[in-house]
Amino acid sequence: MNAFAPVAVPPLVDPFGRAITYVRVSVTDRCDFRCAYCMSEDMNFLPKRDVLSLEEIDRLCSAFIRLGTRKLRITGGEPLVRRDIMTLFASLSRHLESGALEDLTLTTNGSQLARYAAELADRGVRRINVSLDTLDAAKFREITRWGDLDKVLAGLDAATRAGLKVKINVVALKGFNDGEAVSLIEWAHGRGYDLTFIEVMPLGSVEKERFDQYLPLTELRAALEARFTLVPSLYASGGPARYFDVHETGGRLGFITPLTHNFCESCNRVRVTCTGTLYMCLGQEDAADLRAPLRRSPSDDLLESAIRAAIARKPKGHDFLIERTGSHASTGRHMSVTGG
Ligand SMILES: C[S@@+](CC[C@H](N)C(=O)[O-])C[C@H]1O[C@@H](n2cnc3c(N)ncnc32)[C@H](O)[C@@H]1O
Ligand code: SF4
Repeated sequence: MNAFAPVAVPPLVDPFGRAITYVRVSVTDRCDFRCAYCMSEDMNFLPKRDVLSLEEIDRLCSAFIRLGTRKLRITGGEPLVRRDIMTLFASLSRHLESGALEDLTLTTNGSQLARYAAELADRGVRRINVSLDTLDAAKFREITRWGDLDKVLAGLDAATRAGLKVKINVVALKGFNDGEAVSLIEWAHGRGYDLTFIEVMPLGSVEKERFDQYLPLTELRAALEARFTLVPSLYASGGPARYFDVHETGGRLGFITPLTHNFCESCNRVRVTCTGTLYMCLGQEDAADLRAPLRRSPSDDLLESAIRAAIARKPKGHDFLIERTGSHASTGRHMSVTGG
């Protein structure tokens, strides 16, 4: 063997044989919206010193990539409100160029996309998820509390002009947007976007009772099948969604059902918060601190061992429950903390 050949790094495989190849990194817990199912109106945000610098986030992502991560999703909070966020995309794009990373993407509320879409495309981002729960401007303001629908629509136009492929994420909310499901699908597919419905998850406490918001997607799907022909699709995004091709629109429709259908057996992902806390499962409390090893040494040895030790205890799965009598928050963390 060539003495100078690179040493193969053993990939990250958890105790259940699942290879961990997908990391979602939250770059901030802050946001310019206050979506009713995600945040309470008065949120306490983290002190800046606790939050990783963009350089530290780059080091952390690069360590995961060395350990076999092929897909990286930047999220938040709202990732595009973090100051100088484009420097992170610029530095991470080297991993796309080298071929070590297959996919660099982000989830955004779209409010800043008009400004950043072209630059994201320049940095190698090919597709993005944009969260949008209604096309009615007044309802949009009601659910996001602070959001402006026109800005998001302008951002989506900019994304299309920049050549970014868009997937719209819609949190299904009983009595709020269930009546709009058909028009949302027709609108998204008409514009060439995929669309995925997500069941609301019991994460962190918000003002409204979860039971009032929760709409099982089994119900929504049955209602949609009265209007559309849903053909099971072989497409797999590497995420938990199950996809269908909608015969009438020619577009793709996904359902993410953490409550009605648990998809943990194929879980390939972990999440890191903006303070460097690694959560091995969205619905469980166990976590590992990566900030201390990151800050303790300029070499990445401690960091890599901490990542390996954490993956070695990734749990088998989550168990969300939303019932009238049950406790409402399955974890105390809001989605904006763990990173959606
Ligand atoms: C936390 S946000 C972060 C990224 C960005 N701010 C956005 O809204 O797209 C990521 C995703 O989580 C979803 N989300 C937030 N809270 C949720 C909850 N309790 N249940 C299900 N989805 C939730 C949002 O709708 C969004 O699609
Ligand atoms: S879902 Fe996204 S946009 Fe809405 S409050 Fe949470 S982090 Fe902000």
